[in-house]
Amino acid sequence: MAQREVKLCLLGDSGVGKSSIVVRFVTDTFRQSLESTIGASFMTKRLNVDGTTYVFQIWDTAGQEKYRSLAPMYYRGSAAAIIVYDVTRETSFQSVKMWIQELKKNGSPNIVLAIAGNKNDLDDLREIDQKDAKEYADQIGAIFVETSALTALNVPELFMSIAKKLPSE
Ligand code: GTP
Ligand code: MG
Repeated sequence: MAQREVKLCLLGDSGVGKSSIVVRFVTDTFRQSLESTIGASFMTKRLNVDGTTYVFQIWDTAGQEKYRSLAPMYYRGSAAAIIVYDVTRETSFQSVKMWIQELKKNGSPNIVLAIAGNKNDLDDLREIDQKDAKEYADQIGAIFVETSALTALNVPELFMSIAKKLPSE
């Protein structure tokens, strides 16, 4: 089978669930109390889509403000970026817009952008309407999904959509 390496990074506020999404995707597990990421962490995962094996090289960045300046090291040269917010935290959605602006300015021109509204399982606490977020993603040409690292909702699908949207080599 044809094989393709895909460098990918996750960005977004601390606590939105970036590491939890990666852990769900790579090991299909969930932990209620995951440590906040220091600097960044790296994992790989293979996924077969339409006869191609995609080898995702995943840089899971740290959302804490003190690591903010490290982000360009990870998004530069990334073929795709997942910007994650927490559907129960309005401020985390504002940060998505900030990241999108920064990536449009400094990311690679054909980077595949995906926005993930995580913690979909906490619907009672929701602050961000799915429809509004989808509308914003459509405007800027980004993939959009709501995910839950807890229930696994849309986690493999997110990576599958990215694989399908990569420009042909
Ligand atoms: P930083 O590494 O600090 O940038 O945070 P992060 O974005 O990697 O967040 P992390 O994955 O560490 O998750 C933060 C907290 O949210 C943890 O307690 C997780 O268990 C919880 N969490 C993550 N995803 C979900 C989800 O989909 N649903 C629920 N209910 N909790 C989640
Ligand atoms: Mg983390």
